[in-house]
Amino acid sequence: FQPKALAGKRVVVTAGPTFEALDPIRGITNHSSGKMGFAIARAAREAGAEVTLVAGPVSLRTPRGVLRIDVKSARDMLAATQAETPQADVFVATAAVADWRPATRADQKIKKDGSGEAPTVAFTENPDILATVAKTERARSGDLFCVGFAAESHDLVKHAKAKRERKGIPLLVGNIGPLTFGQDDNQMLLVDADGVVELPRASKLVLARQLVAEIARRLKP
Ligand code: C5P
Repeated sequence: FQPKALAGKRVVVTAGPTFEALDPIRGITNHSSGKMGFAIARAAREAGAEVTLVAGPVSLRTPRGVLRIDVKSARDMLAATQAETPQADVFVATAAVADWRPATRADQKIKKDGSGEAPTVAFTENPDILATVAKTERARSGDLFCVGFAAESHDLVKHAKAKRERKGIPLLVGNIGPLTFGQDDNQMLLVDADGVVELPRASKLVLARQLVAEIARRLKP
């Protein structure tokens, strides 16, 4: 009898895009489908973990047995994540968090004023959820194992290595381009302190299961 790789562990996953409101009608978002994060949540659950999935606006079904918290903005996602990670053993950040949000959100729909002039939108920087969680004592001591993702258009290995160090995390997953959204398969490389390993192209679920196994064998006993 072999116990499941993540039995007794708690895993938090962020997934999907964020939506940053401009007014009650409009906002800024991106093309993230959430599929990779949902696949990781499913794979972690299959491996015996208690899984919380913090999901931006996506149209995907919640994996069986997974607790899902729906959020819209990066700040909502940060708050939900910070409520969950103090009890967690693993945090996997797959969400495509908007780097900036409109500096102000109008209470009413922004109307054309007839002048023919377009409004100007000022932006302000969003919090970096992964970097914030990675700085906590739990993460620094290795009790909370943090995993990040990187999607780069060029020089993936160089950028992925730098991003792992900058975010202060033990494991970073690089998405090997071209940038695709909503696809069911993916190609990834794993970057840790020992170097870089490339996984062959496969479905997101197969890759998620491989990643979960890689995470499990890196956890503190
Ligand atoms: O810096 P960059 O956005 O490329 O980093 C990507 C990684 O950081 C992903 O794991 C993503 O989920 C996470 N991230 C985050 N909060 C942000 C920006 C990125 O958690 N505001």
